[in-house]
Amino acid sequence: MIVTIDGVAASGKSSVSGGVARALGIPYVSSGLLYRAATLLGLDAGLDLGDPGALLAHLSTHPVRLEPLAEGNRVWQADRELTDDLHSTRVDKGVSVVAAHPQVRAWVDDQLRALPEPFVAEGRDMGTAVFPHAQHKFYLTASARIRAQRRAKERPDDIPDIEAALIRRDELDANQIAPAADAQVLDTGPMTLDEVITTILRAVRA
Ligand code: C5P
Repeated sequence: MIVTIDGVAASGKSSVSGGVARALGIPYVSSGLLYRAATLLGLDAGLDLGDPGALLAHLSTHPVRLEPLAEGNRVWQADRELTDDLHSTRVDKGVSVVAAHPQVRAWVDDQLRALPEPFVAEGRDMGTAVFPHAQHKFYLTASARIRAQRRAKERPDDIPDIEAALIRRDELDANQIAPAADAQVLDTGPMTLDEVITTILRAVRA
């Protein structure tokens, strides 16, 4: 069984996916972390993020491993844990350029499709491009202001700057953020985290 939870930037996907996965007793997989890891490694190596050939060559000699633990995903490059460095403002800024390369998307998708079921997969295109046959699909939205207010608790920047960056990232991610036709769309703006998790669990268990 695969449950997909897609949605716009900072819509609560990771927290919701973690809660749903723990309640179901299965792992969750955060696809955005792989795009973030590719971006971080590219930046650290001084690569042009607009050059997919250079990025892929670097990733092939610096393999990245996603550890989809129920209590929180971790990402490794050999012995180096990247997890805590993946949510910086510089990675936020570069990641959409990296994620727009079809070669990078294939690098991520191959890793995701190799994972053993069951799991919850969260991202942008889990229910559309990567796991179109998933049994349960959800799509989370919320206004940019509400998402910026939530994200302000995790970033040092001001709310208007965070809001502008989120809107910009949604524009750059536009190609992969359409909900699947068979996804249940949830506006999480007026909902608590627990309410979103409970709504999804009710649908999955129905
Ligand atoms: O979900 P998160 O905000 O961590 O994703 C970071 C970035 O990775 C997104 O802004 C998007 O560019 C890319 N992404 C994607 N497809 C996914 C997940 C993430 O293009 N399935």
